[in-house]
Amino acid sequence: MRNWHGEGIWYGADYNPEQWPEETWAEDVALMSRAGVNLVSVGIFSWALLEPAPGRYEFDWLDRALDLLHAGGIDVDLATATASPPPWLAHRHAETLPRRADGTILWPGGRQAYCPSSPIFRERSLALVEAVAGRYADHPAVVMWHVSNELGCHNVHCYCDVSAEAFRRWLRERYGDLDTLNAAWGTTFWSQRYHDWAEINPPRSAPTFANPTQQLDFLRFSSDEQRAQLRAERELLTRLAPQPVTTNFMIGTGIKYMDYHSWASDVDLVANDHYLVAAHPRPHVELALAADHTRGVAGGGPWLLMEHSTSAVNWQPRNVAKTPGQLRRNSLAHVARGADGVLFFQWRASRAGAEKFHSALVPHAGSETKVFGEVCRLGADLKALAEVRGSRVEADVAILFDYEAWWGVELDSHPSVDVTYVDRLAALHGALWRAGVTADVVHPSADLSRYRLVLVPTLYLVRDAHAAALRRYVAAGGTALVTYFSGIVDEHDHIRLGGYPGAFRDLLGVRTEEFFPLPADERVHLDDGATADVWTEWLHAEGAEVLSSYADGPLSGVPALTRHAVGVGAAWYVGTRLDEAATDRLVARLLTEAGVRPPVPAPAGVEVVRRRSADRSWLFVINHTDAEARVAVTGTELLGGGRCVSELVVPAGEVAVVREEPAKEVRCSSSNGRTPSWS
Ligand code: GLA
Repeated sequence: MRNWHGEGIWYGADYNPEQWPEETWAEDVALMSRAGVNLVSVGIFSWALLEPAPGRYEFDWLDRALDLLHAGGIDVDLATATASPPPWLAHRHAETLPRRADGTILWPGGRQAYCPSSPIFRERSLALVEAVAGRYADHPAVVMWHVSNELGCHNVHCYCDVSAEAFRRWLRERYGDLDTLNAAWGTTFWSQRYHDWAEINPPRSAPTFANPTQQLDFLRFSSDEQRAQLRAERELLTRLAPQPVTTNFMIGTGIKYMDYHSWASDVDLVANDHYLVAAHPRPHVELALAADHTRGVAGGGPWLLMEHSTSAVNWQPRNVAKTPGQLRRNSLAHVARGADGVLFFQWRASRAGAEKFHSALVPHAGSETKVFGEVCRLGADLKALAEVRGSRVEADVAILFDYEAWWGVELDSHPSVDVTYVDRLAALHGALWRAGVTADVVHPSADLSRYRLVLVPTLYLVRDAHAAALRRYVAAGGTALVTYFSGIVDEHDHIRLGGYPGAFRDLLGVRTEEFFPLPADERVHLDDGATADVWTEWLHAEGAEVLSSYADGPLSGVPALTRHAVGVGAAWYVGTRLDEAATDRLVARLLTEAGVRPPVPAPAGVEVVRRRSADRSWLFVINHTDAEARVAVTGTELLGGGRCVSELVVPAGEVAVVREEPAKEVRCSSSNGRTPSWS
């Protein structure tokens, strides 16, 4: 791994100078300096300009742009420019175009119109990387490489013949021989047995449900194919240039098909893009989940927020603008949760093209705007937070997350379409958020020994080794909660026999003999006052203590919530989809049992997260409410508030960051005082 050099918090955006006449560039650099921008991603969608015809490169404009940025003191995260091929590629090689499952060709005219397994695309893209890296490896502005852009965003699944061939190669590698594949895919079912590799295809549109293991393997293959592009570009960059290499992941509740836990070792620095979903009832809580997950992918270390938006995006049905102060709260929440850099898409709002209504740092209306004012304020904030860089986020709770479990649980022909992966993940994370407790979202292979509490939402597919690790964790004194429809299948999507929840049955001391999913909109009651919907199951306690049972519904009297003492720890199981208040109560019980407390108590709606280095700690306090908030802390508020003793006052909608020191007795208050406004 190459080190990520530099100091302080990175601040910037995608910068696309090629969209503007060169006269604008000098103004851009001047405005960047005014805003405190110190890092821009350049050239992401510039392949068609850099290589107007195969093998003919034109770098002059990029030379001038990089020189200008360097003269202005702005560092560059230089793109390999392979994100979207130029029109000439498909014109000359139509076989590089991706196909949907029904055979529809996806044509150029948007972006990312290439088959991820295309050897022609790979060859042409690596030739470009070689040319770009050869030219700019020594450029003083370039501090980092940005491979492609959001790999797999639009083209993760390609079903063309080239992909089919690559899928067969991948399967041979995985299974070695056809007997093993047939056994793994359960092909005795529905007359699917393969006698020749050539008979196997991607799960193209079929008369009915395709083989689930074939589907699962195709999802694995597809993630691996995207990853292979990242690896190939990184390998070349590492050979040709000294700077660290990254690419922008899309970790969040809306992006399912790239297994970023497996990709993390292919970058020198984990970077993520995150956009608020306007329709989400609590978008800042979803943001916190994405950030906690990004940190989990980054192994707990610092990471870079490569993109988010200053205000509205352009790709949702209704693109809601951010209210005053929201940009600052969003950005600093990412920093609180481990980001050492805050970048946006994009520097200047485009005049033309599909994203012309997407917000930017410099809006169409120019720099005398609410957005640019907030951009400048954020720049000053991030400068004041330089000392936080490199510190780690304090978290005593882990939530297990596995992309394979997500893929598996949402395959077709399952007991209920209402059981989705993100549902319980977000519910449990949301309950922790409301309790003021920070969690790392980690892969089941992570070392769990440092956590007091481990939550396991909907881990439908689980490997033996991961189930065993959870058992060891609990036996050694840990507390764990497993939610329904977990532990059901092995890595081939084969049922674990003997009763559900298969892999976790012994750990949890329960055995379920039959699922009783509920009809849409039906709700049941539990004997502790909770309500639940979506899912119930006929569960027998076999060693576990029953904490609550159904009071009505198809399984009246059957246990719904259990606790099993194992070794010196305990494993809890919830067999139904509890309402939000009951989920909060359950999480509160678990936190008490595990001895987990928030960094400091705070009013509802006030987010508090602690980052820590070897000898210092910082408390981030983000007030999402419209009332002033008070929290008990002593130290120096870094965003203009000065010293605070025993109590910090954070105005409505504002953010404070306190370098903590041991509390003294005197009571006074401090605030960073500015109130958000439209002016
Ligand atoms: C993604 C892409 C950017 C841009 C933004 C718009 O993050 O990487 O190129 O399209 O979305 O929100």
